[in-house]
Amino acid sequence: MTYERTAFWVSPKDVITRLKPIEPLFCFSPLVLQDTAVMFMQNFPGLVTYAVKANDSVQVLQALVACGIDAFDVASPDEIDTVREICPSARLHYHNPVRAPHEVQAGLAAGVASWSVDDATGLAQIMSAPKSTEIAVRFCIPHVGGAYDFGEKFGATPERAAELLKQAAEAGFVPSLTFHPGTECHDFKAWDRYIKTAAKIAKNANVRLKTLNIGGGFPAKVGRDGAELLKFINVIKAQIQASFGEGAPNLVCEPGRAMVSQSYDAVLQVKAIRETGDMIWNDGIYGSLAEWRDMTSPNLTDLEFLSPQGELRVGATTDRTVFGPTCDSLDKLPVQIQVPSSVDVGDYVIARGMGAYAQVLCTAFNGYGAHRVVICQNVGK
Ligand SMILES: Cc1ncc(COP(=O)(O)O)c(C=O)c1O
Repeated sequence: MTYERTAFWVSPKDVITRLKPIEPLFCFSPLVLQDTAVMFMQNFPGLVTYAVKANDSVQVLQALVACGIDAFDVASPDEIDTVREICPSARLHYHNPVRAPHEVQAGLAAGVASWSVDDATGLAQIMSAPKSTEIAVRFCIPHVGGAYDFGEKFGATPERAAELLKQAAEAGFVPSLTFHPGTECHDFKAWDRYIKTAAKIAKNANVRLKTLNIGGGFPAKVGRDGAELLKFINVIKAQIQASFGEGAPNLVCEPGRAMVSQSYDAVLQVKAIRETGDMIWNDGIYGSLAEWRDMTSPNLTDLEFLSPQGELRVGATTDRTVFGPTCDSLDKLPVQIQVPSSVDVGDYVIARGMGAYAQVLCTAFNGYGAHRVVICQNVGK
């Protein structure tokens, strides 16, 4: 991935009209990212950590650290190293609950402050950690609201979580619970139910929770809209009060998607229009659109089509089948795209809100993919 430090563009439209890129690229606005981070820190009643997996680029991490984010959810020793290089004093939460022995050693050596666990093996692996360490038992309940079910892979049942929490507390660690409602979760009820269940787990374990980590999962668009984020936070605060009252634990959140999505747009180009009317774009599901294959509702409304001169293509639309540039027929967008009929070969596609899980999932399959990031003052609509 190459970053351009010298070029500072005003907007993706500016990039299109002046650079006329023939390769797909990302436009990143550190200012939009910092606005989002500040909005989270000002409104969330607890510690805001950033889930590095959503976008681990140095520029993103530097922008976050510069505006005050100093705690990170990391999923691997590699992410630990990346964060520590930028912020040596960062607080690290190793909340990928399954770790190989060498990964545990790396986390212990790095002084991880919080470990998530969801079974006895995971807990046994970290018994030698200092007692000031937090053990966050990850639990899951039936899936509500997220784009897909995070409970399929991780999370103890509430009954098992109570046993693990008790063991962690008895061993002298800082007792905590954690959950993840599923990414791009629009349903407040998910947090409501998880928080209620957390209180029951703590009660059954007879443990006073020190912290409760309410996960990531916030939808991408709350990142640009404090009022929308507040709706989630108000539900969370009300349920914490109802479930825990005076003994409320300290709260932690770990947004990935909602933190970084809105700070990136992707700029792609229409490479060909076939006799059939099908379109080939210069990037697809092996590149920046990788997540679209798995999300039930990619942000298709956030696509804009521009001529190379920067004129917005508007008017009647046609439903098009869209393929990416590779030789592979799986490289096809999962739904038809409404494309203005005036769009022609060489026109540009701006996909908004592409900061999370796009750059990190981009491959170089067939020699394609968005491997360039330009810095813009502003992105988004
Ligand atoms: C433990 C943990 N925390 C936070 C996140 C970030 O989730 P999101 O990007 O939906 O906010 C993830 C995503 O996989 C995760 O596994």
